[in-house]
Amino acid sequence: MSNRVVVAFTGATGQLFGVKALELLDETPYESHLILSRAAKMNLEQESDQSVEEVRELADTAYNVQNVGAPPASGSFRTQGTLVCPCSMKTLSNIAHGNAGNLITRTADVSLKERQPLVLMPREKPLNRIHIQNMLDVTDAGGIIYPPFLSFYQRPDSLEEAVTRTMARALSFLGVDVSFDEWDGMSINE
Ligand SMILES: Cc1cc2nc3c(=O)[nH]c(=O)nc-3n(C[C@H](O)[C@H](O)[C@H](O)COP(=O)(O)O)c2cc1C
Repeated sequence: MSNRVVVAFTGATGQLFGVKALELLDETPYESHLILSRAAKMNLEQESDQSVEEVRELADTAYNVQNVGAPPASGSFRTQGTLVCPCSMKTLSNIAHGNAGNLITRTADVSLKERQPLVLMPREKPLNRIHIQNMLDVTDAGGIIYPPFLSFYQRPDSLEEAVTRTMARALSFLGVDVSFDEWDGMSINE
């Protein structure tokens, strides 16, 4: 077991999901190891009030996406697994096909080969057949497709609360326990 979690942001919309993952990890004993793609940095500047540098500072360690020699590129660097959030269709495709050309896709490939959790939060709409096939291929290889959909049945008071619930659940697939209210069911009046 390790206390490291790799969090990768790619260039899909929804950078706030990745930022929330880092904020939640910061409240746990787990170390966050961050990789930002070039397009993720562009989208962060577009979508977030936090600068790229401020987001990097939320993480315990940050790597250059081009550095395929960084520690997470090796299976000998033990981690709890990898969260790609948000995951672009490009990165999804590369992972589905084993194209490990940058540190994000290499780390995802390592998680699959080491049988460690790989959670992808792919975001696009609408989805074409290629996107859906790639999600199926990653699932067949052992990855978890966890789309960044919000749920409303717990009546969140804010977007922040809904995002927090979504990301607490995502981190649970990596063995990270972030406390959040569990759904305790509802009754049916016959
Ligand atoms: C503002 C903006 C929003 C984007 N949103 C998405 C998206 O939701 N999903 C997606 O797959 N690509 C999206 N893209 C395109 C990706 O950023 C682009 O395909 C990029 O090459 C992905 O590279 P990466 O996977 O290395 O980050 C968006 C691009 C921009 C500039």
